[in-house]
Amino acid sequence: MIDLVKNLAAVNRRTKTSVIRELLKLTNKPEIISFAGGMPDPASFPSEVFAGIAADILRTNSRAALQYGPTEGLPALQEQIIRLLREEDGIVIKPENILVTTASQQALDLIGKAFIDMMDPIIVELPSYIGGLQAFNGHGAKMIGVKGDDNGILVDELEKKLHQLRDEEEHYKFVYLVPDFQNPSGVTLCEERRRKVVRLAEMYDVLIIEDSPYRAIRFEGKAPHMLLKLGRIGNMVSLFTFSKTLAPSLRVGFIVAHEAIIRRIAILKQSSDLCTSSLNQLMAAEFLARGYYKTHVEGLRSLYKAKKDAMLAALKQHMPEGEGITWTKPEGGLFLWVRLPDHMSADELFYEAVKENVAYVIGSAFHCDGSGHNTMRLNFSYPTLEQIDEGVKRLAGVVKANLHKAKPKAPALAAR
Ligand SMILES: Cc1ncc(COP(=O)(O)O)c(C=O)c1O
Repeated sequence: MIDLVKNLAAVNRRTKTSVIRELLKLTNKPEIISFAGGMPDPASFPSEVFAGIAADILRTNSRAALQYGPTEGLPALQEQIIRLLREEDGIVIKPENILVTTASQQALDLIGKAFIDMMDPIIVELPSYIGGLQAFNGHGAKMIGVKGDDNGILVDELEKKLHQLRDEEEHYKFVYLVPDFQNPSGVTLCEERRRKVVRLAEMYDVLIIEDSPYRAIRFEGKAPHMLLKLGRIGNMVSLFTFSKTLAPSLRVGFIVAHEAIIRRIAILKQSSDLCTSSLNQLMAAEFLARGYYKTHVEGLRSLYKAKKDAMLAALKQHMPEGEGITWTKPEGGLFLWVRLPDHMSADELFYEAVKENVAYVIGSAFHCDGSGHNTMRLNFSYPTLEQIDEGVKRLAGVVKANLHKAKPKAPALAAR
């Protein structure tokens, strides 16, 4: 066996195993009700439609479907993407603005590759999507966190950070935001703050990475405009994926940005995977072209709204109220976020929750600065309605049992 310490690349040595993955290993028992994953409900997968589409593609277009394709993506899918963005968000783009990716996780990695040199500062939200943090960390980014509230990132804090660094004659490479039904918090960045974010991007000559896998899954309320719609395209890189709307296993997503940026990222994608699966791109393109997308997404909205409502109702019924415990009330997406009183640790509670056969993701894993010890992410898309009620009851039991336990006091100075 080779000496791994000597032989591994620095980037690989720097990359730690994910805390979440380690914790999730503990939740692989069938009796566990898991609010931990971020998975769509498998009952929502349009399997029959896909079966028909796949058969048609393989019968009539297998030469293209089974072949390598252009790195930027197949024109058939680009055409559907252009239509989708115009119809859903009033965004007008050209094929040159699109890079089809092997879903959004590849896009995050490519963005890291494209923009980050060792110790380059970037701004992320507190909390932020852990897969983004891992991708950027892999490229050596120095991540600076900015807090948010129920309306998204605190834009005044963001401005302070941008200003501070400019005074030090340094430059943030980008600001990474998940503005719609954020993973992990479920929070949406409000319209007013979006306008401020794009103004700041232009004022401080900084790029905004808008990562928006959940935008289409809105159950209620009015959608604010996409940052891509509000800002100058030259300041934006927007990430989309069909993972949450069609199926994660398609591994099809896309980046929209200025064509000069797309060209730079496309060069990097070539050395990553040459191209995204042609068969899967054509499956997504046909699904859209045949007009299934709208009705399918409407179905997802009502399915997940019922689950979100069930989780909110269960929290209201079982979680102790007025004890400093709060949770977000998302208008869409797959997650909500629970905040425990400051003296409690969701990290420590996790092991007790698993003993009671319920699991969540510890909120600290989503904080680049290690804060957020008293927070947790709950997923409501995957469990059934019955599991949601029972799981929240079990979780509330664990919280109640620990709510008034005294925190061990630090020994008095004299006794040390
Ligand atoms: C905010 C965010 N970005 C990106 C991804 C990656 O998704 P995919 O690679 O399946 O498109 C996820 C997945 O949960 C996510 O929540």
